[in-house]
Amino acid sequence: MSLLRRNVSLQPYHTFGVDVQTAYYAEVLNPTELRDLFSEYPEDAEDILVLGDGSNVLFTSPFEGLIIRPLLHGITIEKETDQYLILRAGAGEKWDDVVQWAVNRNLGGAENLSLIPGTVSASPIQNIGAYGVEVGQVIEEVEAFSIQTGDLVCFSPEECGFSYRNSIFKGSEKGKYIITAVSYRFEKNPELHLDYGDIRQRLEGIDNPTPADVRRVVSDIRTSKLPDPAILGNAGSFFKNPIISLGHAEKLRQQYPDIPLYYISETERKISAAWMIQQCGWRGKRIGKVGTYEKQPLVLVNYGGATGAEIFETAQIIQWEVEHQFEVALDIEVNVF
Ligand code: FAD
Ligand code: EPU
Repeated sequence: MSLLRRNVSLQPYHTFGVDVQTAYYAEVLNPTELRDLFSEYPEDAEDILVLGDGSNVLFTSPFEGLIIRPLLHGITIEKETDQYLILRAGAGEKWDDVVQWAVNRNLGGAENLSLIPGTVSASPIQNIGAYGVEVGQVIEEVEAFSIQTGDLVCFSPEECGFSYRNSIFKGSEKGKYIITAVSYRFEKNPELHLDYGDIRQRLEGIDNPTPADVRRVVSDIRTSKLPDPAILGNAGSFFKNPIISLGHAEKLRQQYPDIPLYYISETERKISAAWMIQQCGWRGKRIGKVGTYEKQPLVLVNYGGATGAEIFETAQIIQWEVEHQFEVALDIEVNVF
């Protein structure tokens, strides 16, 4: 039976809730089905888009090619020592189920990344990060299907080229691989990361906090300030936090003494995009069906019935206003098609 379906609505498969269609759609359960699919769909690889849970994408027009959703399942222990455990998860598993699995066994490493929506497969793509931790710090290996050769290949964390919201899968190797599984390393005696925001403060009174305590605190912070895509369409932060030169940062600090700046290197600082967007009057501001979230202006929200093009236009207005006021370019974090 053919794996290919024609003219499928993408509305249930992404979190912005935009109503667009894809010309071709297929769900695959294993690498054999991937090979079968490519023999059935021999078109140009540029026409192909892999989708996980669609929590970091925006479709601005109908998709003319093939959307593939790899629903490869399974969570297995690959190795265990006195110090650590290596867990392999199939691409289609939910990322937060992996975090929960580790936390339930008092294993550390992923607890700060609690409640990030999406699949295991997408976790290395933009090197998901939150509350002072990035997934690249716990990734042991990424397994992927090469669209060009049909072979399965493995990437070490070094080969993945992880950096802030980036990896080779978003850069030089974009569109060449379909991630099929990821292995993570979790520690039995973890060093907890408590320095972001008020995490440490929220844990006061707990003598020896555990990964479960950190998960609870991070989950509380997240649910208090990020919109639930099941209620309000969104894809999390729409823009990245820009990295600017020290000279530019110092100039801005003279003008805006309370500007949030974070150390990156001797010559660079990260600047809060949410703060700049808020300064431009965009916290909770709305134009028609699109706006920024009232509790976190870095998140663009579909208030119902917006098109992808309308969301993208609003993003461009925000980019223009921030650039005009701060001379800082905001890069889009979400994958726009
Ligand atoms: P998708 O959106 O489906 O895909 C994302 C990208 O990965 C696309 O380019 C897609 O082509 C590619 N891709 C997906 N699967 C594969 C595969 N198997 N092989 C090759 N390419 C693939 N992100 C953070 O980093 N930190 C956060 O704190 C955070 N908070 C969020 C909060 C909310 C409310 C929302 C809605 C999003 C948030 N995000 C956050 C963004 C998002 O959750 C992550 O980027 C997540 O990893 C996306 O997973 P997904 O399965 O939905 O990927
Ligand atoms: N801020 C404001 N106004 C706001 C919110 C934030 O001025 O309404 C300023 C404050 O100075 C605050 C600072 O921004 O202290 C940082 O805010 P927050 O902790 O919410 O983090 P963020 O930089 O806005 C980033 C990620 C989030 C991630 C959080 C927590 C990016 C692009 N975004 O947001 O990731 O969850 O940190 O680590 O790096 C995502 O990628 O989708 C995402 C939600």
